Amino acid sequence: MPRLHVNIDHVATLRQARKEAFPDPVAWALAAEKAGAVGITFHLRKDRRHIQDADVKALKQAVATKLNFEMSLDPEIVAIAARARAEAYCIVPENRAEVTTEGGLDVRRESRRLSPVVARLARGGGEVSLFVDPDLEQLAAAVDTGAEFVELHTGRYARAKGRAKVRELARLEQASIAAHEGGLRVNMGHGLDYENVAPVARLPHVEELNIGFAIVARSVFTGVHEAVGTMARLCRGGKAR
Ligand code: PXP
Repeated sequence: MPRLHVNIDHVATLRQARKEAFPDPVAWALAAEKAGAVGITFHLRKDRRHIQDADVKALKQAVATKLNFEMSLDPEIVAIAARARAEAYCIVPENRAEVTTEGGLDVRRESRRLSPVVARLARGGGEVSLFVDPDLEQLAAAVDTGAEFVELHTGRYARAKGRAKVRELARLEQASIAAHEGGLRVNMGHGLDYENVAPVARLPHVEELNIGFAIVARSVFTGVHEAVGTMARLCRGGKAR
């Protein structure tokens, strides 16, 4: 069963809405760890819409589990990431106009830019992952970049309804098996919530699930302990209660 990594970006989104010092995403990350998160993920965006540079330093000092730095290939962000010495990195496409990451990387088109960044981050001791759609050609290209992991984009599965949802789950399963056979380790994430996570948690070879928005949103009502604890239980194949 996969381990739960909690994405804390939207705690920072709330703080930035007023440019106050609270709610503090670092304090929330520590509470998430206490509640059962085994990793903390954040995305330092070029436009700094949520996580700020000071948060990166504070997270590195405070997080006791595994810190996962989500990032684009922008040279400024790559330089910050390389200095951050996170335990893991996930490279994603980034578009300024998007509300959230919209699709996986085009690894085939970007491979010349990706390979040196993958090598640089790995030399610093981090695990490197590429965020990709469950597409067999993209996975084959990912193997060639030298990345250790892929994170399979679960967004289409999360949005699909009825038979289309069953098809998207099958695509994720096929992609997970192909990635594993190609020597890649597999994480998944995006758009997962309390209703749709269980079938994904049962897919083969998945090591970590990265989940953010649904947990932060639920914690507004129930508190971080219940929101993270319930999701961690669902990832382990348990019931919500
Ligand atoms: N994985 C990646 C690569 C992402 O970009 C995001 C969104 O920041 C997530 C997982 C988490 O998605 P959500 O907030 O929808 O759970």
